[in-house]
Amino acid sequence: MSLVRLVRVCGIVGYVGHRPALDVVLGGLRRMEYRGYDSAGVAVLDGAGALTVERKAGRLANLEGRLDEVGRERFGGTAGMGHTRWATHGAPIDRNSHPHRDASERVAVVHNGIIENFAALRAELEADGVEMASDTDTETAAHLVARAYTEGDTKGDLTASVAAVCRRLEGAFTLVVTHADHPDTIVAARRSSPLVVGVGDGEHFVASDVAAFIEHTREAVELGQDQLVVITREGYDVLDFHGDAAQAKPFTVDWDLSAAEKGGHEYFMLKEIEEQPEALANTLRGHFESGRIILDEQRISDQDLRDVDKVFVVACGSAYHSGLVAKYAIEHWTRLPVEVELASEFRYRDPVLDRDTLVVAVSQSGETADTLEAVRHAREQKARVLAVCNTNGAQIPRESDAVLYTHAGPEIGVASTKAFLAQIAANYLVGLALAQARGTKYPDEVAREFAELEAMPAAVQKVLSTVEQVRDLGRRIADSKAILFLGRHVGFPVALEGALKLKELAYMHAEGFAAGELKHGPIALIEDGLPVVVVMPSPKGRAVLHSKLVSNISEIQARGARTIVIAEEGDETVRPFADELIEVPAVPTLLQPLVSTVPLQVLAAEIARARGYDVDKPRNLAKSVTVE
Ligand code: AGP
Repeated sequence: MSLVRLVRVCGIVGYVGHRPALDVVLGGLRRMEYRGYDSAGVAVLDGAGALTVERKAGRLANLEGRLDEVGRERFGGTAGMGHTRWATHGAPIDRNSHPHRDASERVAVVHNGIIENFAALRAELEADGVEMASDTDTETAAHLVARAYTEGDTKGDLTASVAAVCRRLEGAFTLVVTHADHPDTIVAARRSSPLVVGVGDGEHFVASDVAAFIEHTREAVELGQDQLVVITREGYDVLDFHGDAAQAKPFTVDWDLSAAEKGGHEYFMLKEIEEQPEALANTLRGHFESGRIILDEQRISDQDLRDVDKVFVVACGSAYHSGLVAKYAIEHWTRLPVEVELASEFRYRDPVLDRDTLVVAVSQSGETADTLEAVRHAREQKARVLAVCNTNGAQIPRESDAVLYTHAGPEIGVASTKAFLAQIAANYLVGLALAQARGTKYPDEVAREFAELEAMPAAVQKVLSTVEQVRDLGRRIADSKAILFLGRHVGFPVALEGALKLKELAYMHAEGFAAGELKHGPIALIEDGLPVVVVMPSPKGRAVLHSKLVSNISEIQARGARTIVIAEEGDETVRPFADELIEVPAVPTLLQPLVSTVPLQVLAAEIARARGYDVDKPRNLAKSVTVE
């Protein structure tokens, strides 16, 4: 039996209250299935000393079918928990699915994260005669809790038993534990992995994401590092791993259930593309008062910002692309060098950092392990860290010196859209806050740049009103073998983002290039009929860039490329070179990515739909990658 450390980006939900627990837990898992969908399972305490568990590999629907087979009436009771899993390695099979139980089957555990020292713990248990039923690290936690509960100085005390086990675990984990002896109690613990409490009326929840309980309550509590929470019908208690009372932070979730539904769209992603004007407006709202830019939580003084002599932006995927876009603006506004780094590379290249370095960590989920570890490395090097995040209370903002939350609302589609645009806007706010603190822009200039940002939601709305042409194009080129994307200046990261969207949604080869690089190799890829998307700058902006890109288009057209040009409305110069012309509103040069990205999102989604793929849950992916 191979030992596998199943490191996951799972959905977890626990409930104690007055409703049938099975219904509440399954409802919560459904709202989190985007987090991972390789297997699912539930455990329900029936109040008469029974703990009933069912779990199934594959999508949540497989588990629901299984529950119908065995009879849902077996799952009575008003306390229970559930889990959906994204496996990184090790087959997603029934016996590796959560919940895991001890040998007596009186303890059940669900888990997200990785128990680094599970091999030693497993060996210890096996030396004690414990027979493992799975290949997972999680099962060791179930056996350890059962042993702590039945012997030693934590005997009979579930909370103390869980605390004692947590003190022995190394690594990042969210654990949720139930015991048949305690049908009205659930104990949960967190270390560097998402866990929030839902506070209802006569009912309480624990979950990896507020989406799990948002239909029941919007009052939540953010747990801190190395904290336990005990929930019952009546209330919740927060403790540290030594059992002492600890402080946690209540907050109100600023979106409701409808926001987490599809709003009549076939896919969440399509709804989220439409929500981009609102996401931008909500992200900008409240950040300009009395003529000044203000951040959400700024534990970095203006003097510290003035001392900054270098900026890093660290992120992954689309968040990384938002950093590449922001680099142009932040350098232009602040005259500071800005390095944009893939978080997964950042700490391994031994970057030059010190207390005058500002590291901007961009993350929609706030739980991405690569970015979280980059944040930790930066802080070890005494650099100051500012998080740009879309998830209240996530680990990355918790470990940062300052936070600027994007308010894109829940982004359920695995491919990032509204969060990406909101990240660009937030990164711009960081740039303006730096320019303001350092005096590289006068207050009236900051005010003018902010006013231009505030006009962007309307510009994006205008783009959305013309995307039917893009959908039609997507259907017509859905069978292409590959699509290339070209751009210059801020259009280059837009080309990268367009290629990423196509790769992750349509599983099609796509590549983004700096257009100036074409002649240094990639032009060899051009062949007859190959679609090439070109992101044009404004003819009224950097005219030299515009003319060079027109030359690039004629070079590829001469070699048979099918040119798809995203250009500013009224750009007649480029029209003769465009086999397909997609017009976007005229906006300031640095803000163009906010309008030129949208057609590329729609194009990729439409091609994926034409190919019959699940736009919200692309194969092999998960919404938040909490593994390195
Ligand atoms: C974006 O479409 C992708 N799903 C992915 O690249 C994502 O942007 C990346 O994993 C970073 O996620 P984060 O913003 O939650 O840190």
